[in-house]
Amino acid sequence: MIEKISVGLLGLGTVGSGVVQIIEEHQDKLMHQIGCPVEIMKVLVRDTSKKRDVNLAEEKLTTNPDEVLSNPEVDVVIEVMGGVEHTREYILKALKNKKHVVTANKDLMAIHGRELHEEAYKNNCDIFYEASVAGGIPILRGLVEGLASDRIMKMMGIVNGTTNYILTKMSQEGRAYEEVLQEAQQLGYAEADPTSDVEGLDAARKMAILGTLGFSMHLDLEDVSVKGISNITEEDLDYSERLGYTMKLIGIASKTNGNVEVSVQPTLLPVDHPLASVHDVYNAVYVYGEAVGETMFYGPGAGKLPTATAVVSDLVNVMKNMRLGVNGSSIIKPQFEKRLKDASEIYSKYFIRLHVKDEAGVFAELTTVFSNHNVSFEKILQVPFEDKSGLAEIVIVTHTASKQNYDDVMQKLMHLDVVYQVKSNYRVEGE
Ligand code: NAP
Ligand code: HSE
Repeated sequence: MIEKISVGLLGLGTVGSGVVQIIEEHQDKLMHQIGCPVEIMKVLVRDTSKKRDVNLAEEKLTTNPDEVLSNPEVDVVIEVMGGVEHTREYILKALKNKKHVVTANKDLMAIHGRELHEEAYKNNCDIFYEASVAGGIPILRGLVEGLASDRIMKMMGIVNGTTNYILTKMSQEGRAYEEVLQEAQQLGYAEADPTSDVEGLDAARKMAILGTLGFSMHLDLEDVSVKGISNITEEDLDYSERLGYTMKLIGIASKTNGNVEVSVQPTLLPVDHPLASVHDVYNAVYVYGEAVGETMFYGPGAGKLPTATAVVSDLVNVMKNMRLGVNGSSIIKPQFEKRLKDASEIYSKYFIRLHVKDEAGVFAELTTVFSNHNVSFEKILQVPFEDKSGLAEIVIVTHTASKQNYDDVMQKLMHLDVVYQVKSNYRVEGE
């Protein structure tokens, strides 16, 4: 009979303080589920004198990691401090000391997940990381448990709240990128270094985790091709809208004939696609399973309490396993060897915006390049400039083409005399 579960926290920032709040305020529900109280024993922070917005006795704070990691009274270590290298060391130490681990750290899990799983397995410990992908949405458990019987074919996700917040405010309110980014930072959505949000790395880490679990195949961060949102312009958003699309930072993981593609890039979706109506800091992951068909998981992707909910739910799972004596048993080794698609196996439509010479024969030259590579036009828009520059703007949406053919077209366009500049190009999905 377990009388009490003791938790050690690494970090007491946005998520950590939410964890303390939920453990305190939902104690009755936790008691009901696990049959004993949960107590926070020690909390590692950088600065014990900092003012905190949680109700914790001062002596519970420490700057010495060993007071958490090697504390014989701590059963479960919750890591919500972020970072990779020393966090890895701390978690390895906690596991070696037979402490179960819950983390919200996608950076860590995307890079060192395999090693940490192995260490957990060796020590009969749990390691759970639901909050690492899509904040408050229970997507990892949805994939691993809810869809355990199905074969996952494709996942498309808005998995970064900061960029979704920025794109929503830019397109709906016409606000400037920098201003909205600052607001997302103040609201606690962005990472300590927001470059990883806006350049797509945060989403790439989450897609590596989703791909690994969804396809039961160990995928590394380097397997994810990444493009962020920092170069998106007002013109791109305007043209998207005029053509019936919404711009989103989309993570795609797809599997065909056993080969997978994982990528993150700004993508145009038809305005009536379910992911197009996911706004602000909300995240959503669309999952296509061979038997189940289409499902979509939707919810808040960042923020104090939504993320803390996922963390504390993982804690409940650890505690249930402790009561049953089955910790460490939920780790399933990947079923498949990694096999990545090459460019000829990746299919999509594309949006291309060009500045071209406004003269006779330009369209014929463009058409020749596209048709030589078997890429056909679905929509075309031409807008002459009024500034007498002799240039016109052309926006093309292609029919579905292989990435190989599309890349070849882009190479040719860059060197075509009539093309002054390729202004932007995006993937178009969801039609
Ligand atoms: P945060 O507000 O910056 O808090 C970090 C906390 O960790 C602070 O309490 C800090 O101490 C402590 N800390 C950092 N480095 C430390 C070190 N070397 N030694 C001791 N203490 C250290 O971060 P957060 O937003 O809560 O994010 C935490 C983790 O959750 C990250 O992995 C993040 O990616 C993930 N996550 C965040 C969200 C979100 O919405 N914010 C959502 C999902 C996942 P001080 O307070 O003394 O400075
Ligand atoms: N910075 C991340 C985001 C936090 O904006 O989605 C949640 O992982």
